Amino acid sequence: MSIFRLHDVHKSYRSDFLRRRKPVLQGVQLELAEGETLAYLGHNGAGKTTTIKALLGLIRVDSGRVEVFGHRAGDPAALARLGYLPENPWFYDHLTGREFLHLVADLHRLPRSKSRRRVDEVLELVGMTENADRRLRTFSKGMLQRMGLGQALVNDPELLILDEPMGGLDPVGRHQIRTLLTGLKEQGKTIFMSSHILSDVESLADRVAILDGGRLKRVVDMRDLEGVGVAKAVRCRELGPSAVDRLRREGYAVQIRGDLASIAVDDEGKLPDVLQLIHSEGGRLLRVEPLRSSLEEIFLAEIGIRPSPATKPEPEHSSSIQEATDEVVEAVRDVQEVR
Ligand SMILES: Nc1ncnc2c1ncn2[C@@H]1O[C@H](COP(=O)(O)OP(=O)(O)OP(=O)(O)O)[C@@H](O)[C@H]1O
Ligand SMILES: [Mg+2]
Repeated sequence: MSIFRLHDVHKSYRSDFLRRRKPVLQGVQLELAEGETLAYLGHNGAGKTTTIKALLGLIRVDSGRVEVFGHRAGDPAALARLGYLPENPWFYDHLTGREFLHLVADLHRLPRSKSRRRVDEVLELVGMTENADRRLRTFSKGMLQRMGLGQALVNDPELLILDEPMGGLDPVGRHQIRTLLTGLKEQGKTIFMSSHILSDVESLADRVAILDGGRLKRVVDMRDLEGVGVAKAVRCRELGPSAVDRLRREGYAVQIRGDLASIAVDDEGKLPDVLQLIHSEGGRLLRVEPLRSSLEEIFLAEIGIRPSPATKPEPEHSSSIQEATDEVVEAVRDVQEVR
């Protein structure tokens, strides 16, 4: 069964004093199946939040159809079956976590007899039981995000619509939300989440819809990406300067940190040569791993960015989808290697 359906949706906003209209969604066509996790990926300003607002009936689209649970978007019968985490949730910060969830339960007209148990369940689910009686204003960003997710769960919805659920969180916070969402997915919830960060959605999503400039460029089924060959990074130690020079002369990008070398190999066919060279020059191979994920390659191609064939961008040249998280993961790996 289809949970929601966007059919040829167009939306524009008046953009300046000449009252010209700027197209924001241009023929978006997307369907979400029951039990599926669909990530909506796109740059800042691509139109993700606009799509979500259309699904909730918060804005009127110019043309096209938006159906949720078979109803017109915004229909109370549809809203009752979904939970929504806005991009910038606004909290009544003088309330405690528990009071806030009770308020949400009241808005859903949950009878008091039921709401007490449900609020306790939700607090447990989002790992906030211990802090439930502290005021929201004393919460960290990560805790607030968990409360935001909690409020979306109070009515035990079948569908979760999450606008940047990991937005603004540090790697630990991202990990916590990702774990939480994995649990909800396993419980059978249907999830639609927007993000502009690939690494956040890669492990969670069943499908990824790539939006660019209001147009849906491609919908990737993550199962199709298994085993797809991508550029590799060869990590090794104790590679002498002459070997580094040779590799660079042959066109490979080599990054050096202390005695660690990372060689980007864009063509899998060249891998044996590179490994042979490392071996013959006395280098010690640590590992070979994908340089970019298959999804990242597709995403970059769809939005028209071609990474230079064998180069992972340096931090100062990072594209906006190249996340600080990746840098942290790299750094942690390097530390592990040094140990
Ligand atoms: N109420 C509005 N009036 C005029 N323009 C708007 C309005 N809301 C959104 N826009 C414009 O529509 C475009 C898409 O915005 P939207 O918020 O949907 O993007 P997004 O993909 O969610 O971006 P982000 O990743 O930054 O959240 C942007 O250019 C934005 O400036
Ligand atoms: Mg947005």
